Amino acid sequence: MREFNAVVLGAGGVGKSALTVRFMRNEFVESYDPTIQEEYRKTVDVDGELTWLELLDTAGAEQFTALNELYITAGRGFVLVFSLTLEASLREVTSLRQQILRIKGENSRVPMVLVGTKLDLTSEREVSRTHIEELAARWKIPVYETSAKRDWDVSPAFEDLVRQMRQY
Ligand code: GTP
Ligand code: MG
Repeated sequence: MREFNAVVLGAGGVGKSALTVRFMRNEFVESYDPTIQEEYRKTVDVDGELTWLELLDTAGAEQFTALNELYITAGRGFVLVFSLTLEASLREVTSLRQQILRIKGENSRVPMVLVGTKLDLTSEREVSRTHIEELAARWKIPVYETSAKRDWDVSPAFEDLVRQMRQY
């Protein structure tokens, strides 16, 4: 069985842990308990092929972002997470992507998915679909609008990442 590790990155409180736990354990974490660093492992079936996946759920909090350099160096694939309810969280993924390309090499193909969270909070939405689709097209990475609470489009985002990690 092939093994891959991926890192979940994004600003504080955007829903990285809720997204990760929804995918890895099929549960929704309602409470907000800021992460320092958490690892999850399981076998996933993507397109009929089993893969051993290790996910590193990171801290969004400012005081831990110095660790991102280490995580990026060690990581093979990346889930760039922002909240659809917080326009400012897009800035964080923009800078994380730049950091990833700087560390991995501007010309290398790095497995990445862009994930917008909290799609269920319709009335709080701040980021338009057009805006993120433009961004994703410019960056040439797939984008998913998700809800960890409702389990909307969470698995497809991680499965896309696994397919990319198998390919390059
Ligand atoms: P840090 O670990 O501090 O970086 O935060 P995080 O990005 O891991 O955020 P976390 O997953 O802890 O979620 C923060 C809050 O948002 C929690 O109260 C979650 O329940 C809530 N939340 C996360 N995803 C969703 C979602 O899809 N819908 C709704 N309604 N709430 C969500
Ligand atoms: Mg967290």
